[in-house]
Amino acid sequence: RQQQQRQDSELMSQCARYYQHQLKHHAQAEKAISYLKKRGLTGEIVKKFQIGYAGDEWDGVLNTFGRSGQQRQQLVDLKLVNRNDNGRHYDFFRDRIMFPIHDRRGRVVGFGGRVIDSDGPKYLNSPETRLFHKGHELYGFWHLQQQRKRPEQVVIVEGYMDVVSLAQAGIDYAVASLGTATTTEQLQRLFRTTSTVVCCYDGDRAGRDAAWRALENALPLLKDGVDMRFLFLADGEDPDSLVQSKGAEAFEQQLAQATSFIDYFFEHLLADIDPSNDAGRSQLLSEAKPRIEKVASDFYRESLMEKLANLLRRDRSQLERYVDKPKQQRM
Ligand code: GTP
Ligand code: MN
Ligand code: MN
Ligand code: MN
Ligand code: MN
Repeated sequence: RQQQQRQDSELMSQCARYYQHQLKHHAQAEKAISYLKKRGLTGEIVKKFQIGYAGDEWDGVLNTFGRSGQQRQQLVDLKLVNRNDNGRHYDFFRDRIMFPIHDRRGRVVGFGGRVIDSDGPKYLNSPETRLFHKGHELYGFWHLQQQRKRPEQVVIVEGYMDVVSLAQAGIDYAVASLGTATTTEQLQRLFRTTSTVVCCYDGDRAGRDAAWRALENALPLLKDGVDMRFLFLADGEDPDSLVQSKGAEAFEQQLAQATSFIDYFFEHLLADIDPSNDAGRSQLLSEAKPRIEKVASDFYRESLMEKLANLLRRDRSQLERYVDKPKQQRM
């Protein structure tokens, strides 16, 4: 098993180097390079993040790494190559800008590929493999650890381009969760590295949903001394576009104004609940209470309970009784 893991990660990093090489030498390299330039990336940052190019042919990786049947099978297992129903093999990533995804030890475990000008989904990500577990990895985490062992804060953003673009601007403490909502495992890893995590997402529906799920997953991790904050960007804006158009300082200024998780917690719930009547207040109680009970820190839990009591127009001590009652009934 260990030997297989070594062979797998060797193949993945060879493949990353292959894509990097294609960015310089492929017949279409010019197109890929001018796209990256158009996105405002320098050669230096492209190299640092080992960004590459998968050519438009169907057999680039296949012919380079898949000579024997065994090698082809390994490429299929690692989802670098697909096999169709007729048993024919072809490259998984074609005509895309390639972002290698490193695990925390710096091994390449997967890729994200962005279209340049063709059709198809904007991003294609490596599916889960025996090497790649999306819920555990964070894009940019390894680079962040290379820069500083204990950053003051870590920013979670939505996309690959956001991480790279921020790093280029000197904001080298951003990571992206990979398509899915930020998981408890990912947050656990971040809170081992830093005391403050700022979730910076689009202000649209998807971004708001992602932020709420991140907070729900973080509740058991919110110990004393740990802080989580939220920043939603204006419609059509993302960290990449913001930092490219307004600069690093403007972004850091916004970061400094991120909402505390306690305020965000109630802002989010009150977006759909009207606490001016009993029905609304009872709904607020039922939405808020079970979540507050998950918070690790007594201090944070108490702050949340006090705010909840105010919103419910009850004394804090009354609230305790409401909160305890269902438990007693169950006994
Ligand atoms: P750019 O357009 O290159 O700036 O990318 P972006 O990161 O701003 O894209 P967007 O905000 O639309 O998406 C954020 C992240 O969601 C991306 O970085 C991807 O990880 C993921 N994503 C976006 N589009 C797709 C898609 O079509 N398929 C999948 N699987 N993931 C996507
Ligand atoms: Mn898994
Ligand atoms: Mn969005
Ligand atoms: Mn975006
Ligand atoms: Mn973008």
